[in-house]
Amino acid sequence: MKNIAVFASGNGSNAQNIVEWFAYKSTARVSRILTNNPGAGVIERAKQSMVPFTVFNREEWKNTNCIDEILKKDETDFIVLAGFLWLVPSRIIQQYPDKIVNIHPALLPKYGGKGMFGDNVHQKVIEMKEEESGITIHYVNEHYDEGSIIFQATCPVLPEDTTETLASRIHILEHKHYPEEIEKLLLR
Ligand code: GRF
Repeated sequence: MKNIAVFASGNGSNAQNIVEWFAYKSTARVSRILTNNPGAGVIERAKQSMVPFTVFNREEWKNTNCIDEILKKDETDFIVLAGFLWLVPSRIIQQYPDKIVNIHPALLPKYGGKGMFGDNVHQKVIEMKEEESGITIHYVNEHYDEGSIIFQATCPVLPEDTTETLASRIHILEHKHYPEEIEKLLLR
């Protein structure tokens, strides 16, 4: 049984979906949810799912080993970012080579990079009149959205789409594919 740590900064629907998906599996479980945002919806979801959670600040994340120690104590095998907005320090990337993944709500390399998160991404995709968007699951490196791509899935962008309607279509793709792709990587 492998231990997955999930990092999220916001609502946490992906985090919860991953928790629930692995609850029925013998391959892995979510051993902890970690967030930089004390007001994040993901905290309530962690409590409801009875998954241990940790809230940390920027100083702890960037300049101390306290998150590293928690990950070590949990015997963390794999790190999943699910709507997590801070860059991962290189010391953590080095401890988990090819074991940290992120999901991006667009087809990278387009519509990625600093500031391209949440509705900003969908807004831009709609503005550019793209006919297709989707999700990208990729490895995490020291730069926003630049690690190598593992998996993509697409969906149409409709002429009448708003950021909300496009986001919900993308969320369906995320919830379907993210846990499956994580499990494949764990079983490699
Ligand atoms: C998702 O669209 C994900 O791709 C992006 O942030 C969003 C998080 O959604 N990185 P949620 O908090 O899991 O609902």
